[in-house]
Amino acid sequence: MRFPWLVLLAACGSAKPVASTSQVDPTPRSRELFAQMAVVLTHPRCVNCHPADNTPRQGNDHAFHDPPVLRGTADRGVVGMQCTTCHQDHNAELARIPGAPGWHLAPVEMAWLGKTPAQICAQLKDPARNGGRTLAQIQDHLAHDPLVGWGWHPGAGREPAPGTQAELGAIAQQWIDTGAACPEETR
Ligand code: HEC
Ligand code: HEC
Repeated sequence: MRFPWLVLLAACGSAKPVASTSQVDPTPRSRELFAQMAVVLTHPRCVNCHPADNTPRQGNDHAFHDPPVLRGTADRGVVGMQCTTCHQDHNAELARIPGAPGWHLAPVEMAWLGKTPAQICAQLKDPARNGGRTLAQIQDHLAHDPLVGWGWHPGAGREPAPGTQAELGAIAQQWIDTGAACPEETR
């Protein structure tokens, strides 16, 4: 009973490829890559600093920042209550105060808290809502920015963002290379 298998193998070997990879639509793959990015982007370590109102959040339940603080006109707090009055350029473990260089809130137009991956994707690509960045600059920010990087070293027993910052940077690059497609809205 070996013979039919040999015939089959020979037939397969001579078959022409149906489509080369360059003809495959990269959009589904690109959406899949953004879904992987979104697991990080929607994580509490990120969205707690990306709210649409004037108050940072804390913890995995996005509780209002305690002590109460305000965004202020430059996203850095108000006079006498600047973010960097308490937040240093590194975590202060004993006081449980998170820290990284230049600690402040993301501007309102970059708000992600409570948004869907599709909404975050759309605004991430929109220079009017992403700080005037190109896709390459977004990738660079994700891969190298110290406030982003803090998400994997949050200190004081906080849950880190999934994966590593280098992995996020690599996935973001593949997402851009496959056309930077956004997920379809599911609701
Ligand atoms: C301490 C607060 C803070 C944390 C934590 C933080 N960000 Fe941000 N984020 C900012 C600020 C401030 C900006 C605006 C920087 C600028 O435009 O110069 C920003 C901007 C961005 C941008 C570029 C603009 C946009 O929204 O399209 C991306 C991308 C981003 N953050 C990703 C992340 C990710 C991913 C995490 C979590 C791993 C994270 N951030 C955690 C404060 C934070
Ligand atoms: C009076 C001191 C103080 C000021 C001012 C302050 N913070 Fe905080 N912040 C803290 C402390 C303390 C914690 C830790 C709370 C905890 O986890 O127990 C904290 C936690 C946070 C967290 C939580 C991170 C997480 O994912 O759990 C964010 C985000 C944050 N602060 C942002 C800011 C921003 C942005 C500003 C300026 C607008 C600011 N803070 C001003 C003391 C301060």
